[in-house]
Amino acid sequence: MRVAVTDGYGPPEVVRITDVPAPEVGPGDVRVAVHATTVNPTDCGTRAAKPFFIRALTGIVRPRTMILGNEFAGVVESVGPRVTRFSAGDRVFGYSPRFGAHAELVSISEDGPIAAVPAGRSFEDVAPGTEGAHYALSVIRKAGIDAGQDVLVNGATGAIGSAAVQLLADLGARVSAVCGSAHVELVRGLGADRVIDRDALDFTQEDHQYDVVFDAVGKSSIGRCRPVLKRC
Ligand SMILES: NC(=O)c1ccc[n+]([C@@H]2O[C@H](COP(=O)([O-])OP(=O)(O)OC[C@H]3O[C@@H](n4cnc5c(N)ncnc54)[C@H](OP(=O)(O)O)[C@@H]3O)[C@@H](O)[C@H]2O)c1
Repeated sequence: MRVAVTDGYGPPEVVRITDVPAPEVGPGDVRVAVHATTVNPTDCGTRAAKPFFIRALTGIVRPRTMILGNEFAGVVESVGPRVTRFSAGDRVFGYSPRFGAHAELVSISEDGPIAAVPAGRSFEDVAPGTEGAHYALSVIRKAGIDAGQDVLVNGATGAIGSAAVQLLADLGARVSAVCGSAHVELVRGLGADRVIDRDALDFTQEDHQYDVVFDAVGKSSIGRCRPVLKRC
């Protein structure tokens, strides 16, 4: 199969197209013919080894992961004998935590982050929606956020923040979302109960306290957020 590989750390020119054997299909695996993928901040950071410490995870001298790409959408090409949720021909999308999606075929466990493409959505619509949602869901679970809690999302228009607003609204949390003036209506449409225009108001100066502040863009700090956090 054709893939995009990186032979070393560096600019986009280190990426080249080549042929490699197709990934194996384990007993519980789904192998997907990739129709859409993305080049996202994780791919770019890993390819360029920025920040430098990323080398501790991906290889000191050269990257261990040769085929980047962690978001994909496409058609199930084959399934392992234990797979029950998917069949060949299904339209699916998902997140491949160990990369490998910049390829004609990617293999993933059926218990992993893979789902059917919603009706009416194209592969290009759904592939970019998975990594931000993956991080947002990890934070929501780690923080143990429950229905009815008061949560503020800073950076609500980014990949992570926009997913966080939607997941929190679905969970039944009361969501206050911070964004720039130009994006207030967009963020309201994602399901936020309150939208704070960060060009008009600094949320850390508000007379309102939250159970959780989810800073999806890392532009604040624990010290600045402390006054707007409820005491445990
Ligand atoms: N996307 C991923 O999956 C991914 C993967 C690895 C790492 N990261 C890192 O995670 C962080 C968030 O990434 P992202 O892709 O979700 O978002 P992003 O695209 O980096 O930014 C999201 C939004 O943050 C808002 N923003 C800009 N300056 C701000 C400020 N001073 N205070 C509050 N909001 C501000 C802007 O929206 P408004 O103009 O509407 O305010 C911007 O559209 C980044 O540091 C990124 O490098 C992301």
